[in-house]
Amino acid sequence: MDCYSPAPAFRLPPLPMPKSDDASQVLLSVGGLWGREVNLDEFLTTLVDRVATSMQADRGTLYLVDPQRNELFSRAAHLPELSQIRLKIGQGVAGFVAKHGVVVNMPSPKGESRFNPEIDRLTGYRTNSLLAVPLFDRERSVYGVLQVLNRRGGGRFLEEEESRLAGMAEQISTALQATSLYQELRRAREQPACPVGYFFNKVIGESAPMKAAYKLVQKAAATDATVLIRGESGCGKELFARALHVNSPRRNRPLVKVDCAALPPTLVENELFGHEKGAYTGAESRGEGKFESADGGTAFIDEIGELPISVQGKLLRVLQDREFERLGGTQTVKVSVRIVAATNRDLAKMVREGRFREDLYYRIKVVELLLPPLRERGAEDIERLSRHFVAQAARRHQLAREPKLSAAALERLKAYRWPGNVRELENCIESAVVLSDGEILPEHLPLPEVQRWPDAPAASPPGQTTAIMALADVERRHILAVLEQLKGNRTAAAKALRIGRNTLARKLKEYGIAEE
Ligand SMILES: Nc1ncnc2c1ncn2[C@@H]1O[C@H](COP(=O)(O)OP(=O)(O)OP(=O)(O)O)[C@@H](O)[C@H]1O
Ligand SMILES: [Mg+2]
Repeated sequence: MDCYSPAPAFRLPPLPMPKSDDASQVLLSVGGLWGREVNLDEFLTTLVDRVATSMQADRGTLYLVDPQRNELFSRAAHLPELSQIRLKIGQGVAGFVAKHGVVVNMPSPKGESRFNPEIDRLTGYRTNSLLAVPLFDRERSVYGVLQVLNRRGGGRFLEEEESRLAGMAEQISTALQATSLYQELRRAREQPACPVGYFFNKVIGESAPMKAAYKLVQKAAATDATVLIRGESGCGKELFARALHVNSPRRNRPLVKVDCAALPPTLVENELFGHEKGAYTGAESRGEGKFESADGGTAFIDEIGELPISVQGKLLRVLQDREFERLGGTQTVKVSVRIVAATNRDLAKMVREGRFREDLYYRIKVVELLLPPLRERGAEDIERLSRHFVAQAARRHQLAREPKLSAAALERLKAYRWPGNVRELENCIESAVVLSDGEILPEHLPLPEVQRWPDAPAASPPGQTTAIMALADVERRHILAVLEQLKGNRTAAAKALRIGRNTLARKLKEYGIAEE
């Protein structure tokens, strides 16, 4: 849905190519990559591509239900022609599937009253055959539709193909339910028409600096003022950018994120402002930039300190006049966007060094939200966050029982300095939840001072220094311990360690850990 854009935190590794024609096998291995909804769009698009290929279909589309508008919207599609399709529930074949929760296998659109020719008209595509299956949540309500179009070789999709697609939908559904996209859809269902007043979705914390931050968000959210969110890595800048959006009058319009650090400088301008046909080699059609996609909503410019100086002037103009030209274009585009930016860099210093435009700096920090590092939030916030992450990880890993957080483990968590802030705490707890056996003990916490290794000197009594080990040693031993616990399952180990399988493979090689 427009306003439910993903929160990419790190990139998913490339998806494995199908090894056999057993599609469910392919999807299962893809499922193993789900930990976080990183690059969710890209991932879903690849997933839908895979589904279409394995179904011998020409294209596929994944629709999700927008409960506030009672519509379906396409979340991932083979759609070079349109950025998104929206359908009323009940309208078209996908709408029918969403409304009735049944499979539709349509050999031809001819004489088919459920078929909506409008989409073909908009896309210029010709639908010959179509197979659509519902996506159910745990309560068996439909929250999406997976469909494939135009069976290769023609004719009706086979019965066996019907059940195969249904199986894939089930797996995709399980994976999707672990993402915050799904949580947002659910929240939207529970809070129709977005409640008046302020809600901070998943922001946890009651400490004084957090309360001050909530207050500022409440004030700023109601306005269109540009907000600069500052704070150390992993302290919740993106989470607060979302809170600003969902608490603003623009909440039903898109929140679009641009990560300046993730893109090479040459692509940032294109990403933000789009291009006209022929603007550069390969620009075969006009491309919409993020500011255009965010029209009416919020543009979240992450890592703004990385914005190339050559593009800073153009952004300044958007801030001043809400207008710009696409790359290679002369026509002025006007948009209504609210801008929220984030950085962990010292922009004032960058201004002094001539790396960031001063005029842009002042335009951006109309409202400045400084998020505290975790170590300044006090032991109570650490405890609240820890309990929250234990519950979250237990849900994510579908554990029958939530592990108990032992008093000793909690003490260690409170004593640690958390250089990686909330993200580090979240990862630490998830790994402990996976490794623990009903109760999280200090040795389950992958923290340098608390981890005790089987062949390492015994942990020192409090007040004494811990054994000094090279960082690489700690890492190597931790990887080994995790692999051992997970019986050598690399996918599970990579997931528990919150790194990609490729990274794990590289580290195993680096540390000379043998295949077996
Ligand atoms: N107050 C909080 N309550 C609950 N979860 C939080 C909180 N702050 C951060 N998190 C979680 O910690 C992780 C990191 O947060 P986020 O991505 O917002 O940090 P960031 O400041 O943008 O980090 P970076 O500088 O590395 O981009 C996310 O999974 C987020 O959900
Ligand atoms: Mg961030």
